Amino acid sequence: MRQARVFLDRNFTIGRIDPRLFGAFIEHLGRGVYSGIYEPGHPTADEKGFRRDVLDLVRELGVTIVKYPGGNFVSTYNWEDGVGPVEERPRRLSYVWASLEPNTFGTNEFIAWCRLAGVEPMLVVNLATRGPQDAANLVEYCNVPGGTTLSDLRRAHGFDKPHGVKFWCLGGEMDGVWHAGATTADEYGRIAAQAGKIMRWVDDSIELAVSGSSGPYIPTLGSWDETVLHHALDHVEWIALHTYLNNWKDDPPALLAAADLIDAFIEGVIAVADAVAAKRRSSKRIMVSFNEWNVWYRTRRPYEHLRMPGWPVAPPLLEEVYSVEDALMVGGVLISFLNHADRVRSACLAQLVNVIAPISTETGGPAWRQTIFYPFAQVSRLARGDVLRVRVECESYAAACYNPYRRETFDQLPSVAYLKASAVANEGGGLTLLALNRDLDQEMTVLVSARGFGRLAVAEATVLTDSDLKAANTKAALMRVKPARLSGVAVGAGTVRMELPPASWSVVHLRVAA
Ligand code: AHR
Repeated sequence: MRQARVFLDRNFTIGRIDPRLFGAFIEHLGRGVYSGIYEPGHPTADEKGFRRDVLDLVRELGVTIVKYPGGNFVSTYNWEDGVGPVEERPRRLSYVWASLEPNTFGTNEFIAWCRLAGVEPMLVVNLATRGPQDAANLVEYCNVPGGTTLSDLRRAHGFDKPHGVKFWCLGGEMDGVWHAGATTADEYGRIAAQAGKIMRWVDDSIELAVSGSSGPYIPTLGSWDETVLHHALDHVEWIALHTYLNNWKDDPPALLAAADLIDAFIEGVIAVADAVAAKRRSSKRIMVSFNEWNVWYRTRRPYEHLRMPGWPVAPPLLEEVYSVEDALMVGGVLISFLNHADRVRSACLAQLVNVIAPISTETGGPAWRQTIFYPFAQVSRLARGDVLRVRVECESYAAACYNPYRRETFDQLPSVAYLKASAVANEGGGLTLLALNRDLDQEMTVLVSARGFGRLAVAEATVLTDSDLKAANTKAALMRVKPARLSGVAVGAGTVRMELPPASWSVVHLRVAA
């Protein structure tokens, strides 16, 4: 039995959790849109063609903001193709995903879907094959009330009121050679600054995210962010980061350790952003929007190997089936985000439905929760309030990090604590504890010393684990994996004791005792 101690104090906070931390991503990729969120003719589809079964799961997942329409897709997308009478919209080749894009779903359908799902829209503009003027045009189309050609066009398309989209991303992954928009930091930074400037002239209430490094393994890590912010610091509030973790070598200790890589990545980019600001004598603090994150490796291969003959519409691409160990990793990354709540104020799990997603669907059939659905839904529901500083005392192990593209080891994590934890002081006096036991073999007793709280009682305690870490939910076994009750939680005066099974994700929600 392994022992761990956690020390926390209600007065020592990291930051207030921004609900935007619980975002997701929908790209025109595979079956993400078509037969994901949108499937006219499906038994649960509403009059607009939105799948109600998926909408229910999206609400249960607790998603707060959704990025759209890409991803790599946006870097060759013409937003004008996706608005106006559906029968007049062009059918285009979606180059990167080797698919036919029918454009029957576009910006207005996305906004309508967001309103139904109760989520905030986050739009990405194409700064690769298009540029600042097209981006400003889209802001005008979406956000100007009326009286201009593009805002009146939106009204003629049936949307009288402006969409009021606040969060805009200036392209994405422009540092990635695999991306349609790949370019140099100087070239991108200059265009991003120009686009941001004129987009804000159209609507000065918007928030803008510049595209930062696409992962900790990127050769240009740090220098990209520095150069881009050198150009764009005055024009943006956010820097967007991406990372997909992997288990290429079937090395679960390494997979579970990988969340620590996210900690280092966040801290490194924040240091660079603050250094750029310091050089300018600027007090501006750029916030991190972790715009794409997940586990992705089974269906990950060079784009040319994803190609299917004949430019199909919505082919089944990137349909990763997630296991228990992937869900543990997702819990670990959520802890990383919470523990940087002062600077990571937005994040998008990539993606939402079918494509590397917490929700799977069958075309014409059911929708179900993947394993990674659970930690996300729990954290979104229960981790609301102030994140507290936690001091964790426990033993550690060494782990390797694997490059997501080339499968080789690219780094080492020499000291990975077996326990990864976060604590949230909830509004109303409660406390939520999140704990990842990364020891694959041993149970762990965790003794939490919690100062500054009144008498607490267990409101909810769950654990996600399985004797088979490869277990997954599939159409044949929709609920094979789900959280169970965590027994043995003992609450004393200023203490909480938890017994965590090996390789497990636990959520303990404590309320003020009656
Ligand atoms: O989410 C899948 C792809 O991953 C996105 O299109 C791209 O931005 C990233 O490389």
